[in-house]
Amino acid sequence: MSPLSLVILISGSGSNLQAIIDQIETGNLNAKIKAVISNRPDAFGLKRALQHGIPILSLDHKKYPDRASFDDDIKNHIDELNPDLIVLAGYMRILSQPFIEHYYPNILNIHPSLLPRYQGLNTHQRALDNGDREHGVSIHVVTPELDAGPVVLQGRFAIQENDDAQSLQQKAHQIEHQMYPRVLQWIADGKLRLKQDVVEFNGQPLSGPLAFDDKETMKE
Ligand code: GRF
Repeated sequence: MSPLSLVILISGSGSNLQAIIDQIETGNLNAKIKAVISNRPDAFGLKRALQHGIPILSLDHKKYPDRASFDDDIKNHIDELNPDLIVLAGYMRILSQPFIEHYYPNILNIHPSLLPRYQGLNTHQRALDNGDREHGVSIHVVTPELDAGPVVLQGRFAIQENDDAQSLQQKAHQIEHQMYPRVLQWIADGKLRLKQDVVEFNGQPLSGPLAFDDKETMKE
């Protein structure tokens, strides 16, 4: 099968991007990153991409008059690349409805909470403030409503008494780095299909998120 072609959007460190690159380079993920696009010129993830010979595009959103013109510019660049899938990996800017509708259902996002809990920002602190015993990460299809699209895969971990927002972020990252490559490989394999009104897994419609199991390997 030909590799799944990706455009990855970032705003920051890009540790999820790195995890995806690593799995591609070790042959576990049949994908090709056509470009990494950042809305922040200083995003460390851009350096990571360059180190691996991946084309980058740095478009500073502050230089555009409004969200629509910025998203339109990104859209034009992405359309030229014509990827199979757009992967949001720590992209910290809300995408406009026309952009999302243009690519739906082929945009995925990773969000550090057990959606529908804690859409938006500061998810770790909000889980702590709420006294939650459990927290996690969700990978979902992007729809115009923020962090509300169908969740494909969810990973969970316990919140311990001594956890703070930083330790929860570390726990989240640890599973995120396994979860994103796995979902992408399922799509590359045709095991997971993103369709207009349904997500299918092994030919069956998904009625809720799959549960991430860190004991499964990429090959399963
Ligand atoms: C991740 O925690 C992801 O869930 C959220 O932004 C963070 C990005 O981290 N959407 P990184 O830039 O991939 O290190």
